[in-house]
Amino acid sequence: MLQVEGLSAGYGPITALHDVTLGADEGRITAVLGANGAGKTTLLRTVSGLHPARTGTVRLGGQDITRHSAEAMPALGMAHVPEGRGVITELTVEENLRLGGLARGRVKTADLDRVWSLFPPLDERRRAAASTLSGGERQMLVVGRALMSRPSVLLLDEPSLGLAPRIVTQIFELVRGLVREEGLAVLLVEQNARSALSVADRGVVLNLGRVVADDDAAVLAGDDQLRHAYLGF
Ligand SMILES: Nc1ncnc2c1ncn2[C@@H]1O[C@H](COP(=O)(O)OP(=O)(O)OP(=O)(O)O)[C@@H](O)[C@H]1O
Ligand SMILES: [Mg+2]
Repeated sequence: MLQVEGLSAGYGPITALHDVTLGADEGRITAVLGANGAGKTTLLRTVSGLHPARTGTVRLGGQDITRHSAEAMPALGMAHVPEGRGVITELTVEENLRLGGLARGRVKTADLDRVWSLFPPLDERRRAAASTLSGGERQMLVVGRALMSRPSVLLLDEPSLGLAPRIVTQIFELVRGLVREEGLAVLLVEQNARSALSVADRGVVLNLGRVVADDDAAVLAGDDQLRHAYLGF
């Protein structure tokens, strides 16, 4: 579904991504792991058109989208949930979701209903201001907002950051269910490698902007040397 080949990107004199090649298949969660500064966020931002690629290509369903702008991505079927769980706090939960639908042109009731059924805590708080949500609920809201554009590829940047382990498990299980039922391709960026590998099908490990491993999640989780060197568990 998503194929990244030989991608390089950077900031002025800094090269944050060196010749990165990886893929994300439909019906699968691909975890992108690595320490602080490994280039995970830069990878997602470059894939989704928020940051320019220096070299390499990004293909979505075979189509070269490397030079497409971020605004064009929802219509192409890509949704990016950035780091930080940004929502518009003055708006209600439902209004925030509707903004996600607008990215695709118009809001469909069926899409809203799908989010309500996927995330019951949001359903219960439809008319609450987003400012009143807990961290876990906010994470559900930003994922739900991304789903409103009916993506075929979902990019998630550190959804677990700052959440209690129980809530992280809950969010990951929801993503797992979504992938199973709807065949989405998910690229899941995480520093929390242990949790990410427990939910992912595949894993790609970045170190200083380079891919140092790309394998089945179970193989990576069972590789003691790799875990100690790059994954911190
Ligand atoms: N706006 C920027 N200007 C200059 N350098 C940047 C900028 N954003 C990131 N970098 C640098 O690019 C490299 C990769 O950063 P990036 O944010 O992609 O890493 P990351 O893997 O997402 O890290 P973290 O786990 O801390 O979120 C780092 O060396 C970082 O300092
Ligand atoms: Mg990051």
